[in-house]
Amino acid sequence: MRKIKTAVIGSGFMGKVHTEAIRRLGNVDVVAVAASPARDARLVAHHFDVPHSTGNWKSLIEDPEVEAVHLCTPNALHYPMAKAFMEHGKHVLCEKPLAVSSAEAAEMVKLAKEHKVVNATNHNLRYYPVVQHVRAMIEAGELGEVLVVQGTYSQDWLLYDTDYNWRIEARDNGPSRVVGDIGSHWMDMIQHLTGLRITAVCADLQTFHKTRKKPKGSIETFAGKKLSPEDYEEIPVLTEDFASVLVRLGDRARGAYTVSQVSAGNKNRFQFEIYGTKCGVKWNQEVPDELWIGHRNMPNQVIMKDPSLLSGRAPGYADLPGGHSEGYDDTHKQLFKRFYNRILHPHSPIEFPTFEDGLRGMKLIEAVMESHARQGWVELG
Ligand SMILES: NC(=O)c1ccc[n+]([C@@H]2O[C@H](COP(=O)([O-])OP(=O)(O)OC[C@H]3O[C@@H](n4cnc5c(N)ncnc54)[C@H](O)[C@@H]3O)[C@@H](O)[C@H]2O)c1
Repeated sequence: MRKIKTAVIGSGFMGKVHTEAIRRLGNVDVVAVAASPARDARLVAHHFDVPHSTGNWKSLIEDPEVEAVHLCTPNALHYPMAKAFMEHGKHVLCEKPLAVSSAEAAEMVKLAKEHKVVNATNHNLRYYPVVQHVRAMIEAGELGEVLVVQGTYSQDWLLYDTDYNWRIEARDNGPSRVVGDIGSHWMDMIQHLTGLRITAVCADLQTFHKTRKKPKGSIETFAGKKLSPEDYEEIPVLTEDFASVLVRLGDRARGAYTVSQVSAGNKNRFQFEIYGTKCGVKWNQEVPDELWIGHRNMPNQVIMKDPSLLSGRAPGYADLPGGHSEGYDDTHKQLFKRFYNRILHPHSPIEFPTFEDGLRGMKLIEAVMESHARQGWVELG
């Protein structure tokens, strides 16, 4: 079996999740970790027994051993990193949101085509087995025509003004925080499942903390809870804490979602509800093995993940028997498996979100921002 050699750029929350998930594939070796400062890369490489670490990601661009890279760095670094690696023929799996603007994302799509590299945007949440069961139900017509979509992605880790992360600052994050960070997942998911495109948005955004207390040292995602209130500096906040967004999908479906990083008690409550002419479904990432199916003329159901009972292609997204949870970590493994399969077998189907999907996501994020600025509906081309 040929083994692909890959490098992970970023050693924070996602860098570690990616490294671990790649390890589980079997046919891919992580040969290097890059991060800044170099010490962080060293620590992660040591922990996962990766042979090489570096504080300078550019040193990997021309490394002939590295065939593919995973970009797990703050959003503003996705474009320059992806560009440099693609220009040297490396396949790129990039975290979401794909870039900080649709112009950058469009350039990434162009470069991927020019250099014929496999490219993916890490919308991993598509890969829960029960989510794929919903997709199969919709494809088989079990919901009927989709009329209404509703949902939320609610977190609480930035509730206090002492909570800080690089996402707060537009320089590292891009102009949109909550919509770009987690609204991007919601919009990708709803389009992936329904097969419908979001055609227009109308949004209202709020930044509750106009200033936040920034710790003087650097910290990782979700690590804010461990810090004491000393050693902060007050910084202005230009990115949003909350958004509510009305959406139009396809010819006549309608919907709405909220995204929040300040909703106490919600950790990663990513929820979608899809209602069709025949029945409805409701799913919440915090209980990922369960699916609620709502009926008008008979009792509602709650079904549980069991590969032998899932429909269509969904069993192929579950590696464990029913009753054994498959969660967030497993979604990355499922996406990566398909990404590397495409590298090994260039004529196999593309079963993962590409840079094209990431570009579509960036256009939607920009439309949401524009809608809020104009206080009105924005249509997408
Ligand atoms: N798909 C998901 O579910 C999901 C979840 C969380 C984050 N993300 C995305 O992953 C990306 C990283 O987020 P995170 O939460 O892991 O952040 P993090 O702060 O935990 O980690 C960021 C990493 O980037 C590295 N870095 C910063 N500047 C660098 C440079 N110049 N060279 C090399 N490395 C550098 C840091 O060393 C750090 O290891 C973001 O784009 C984010 O949107 C995706």
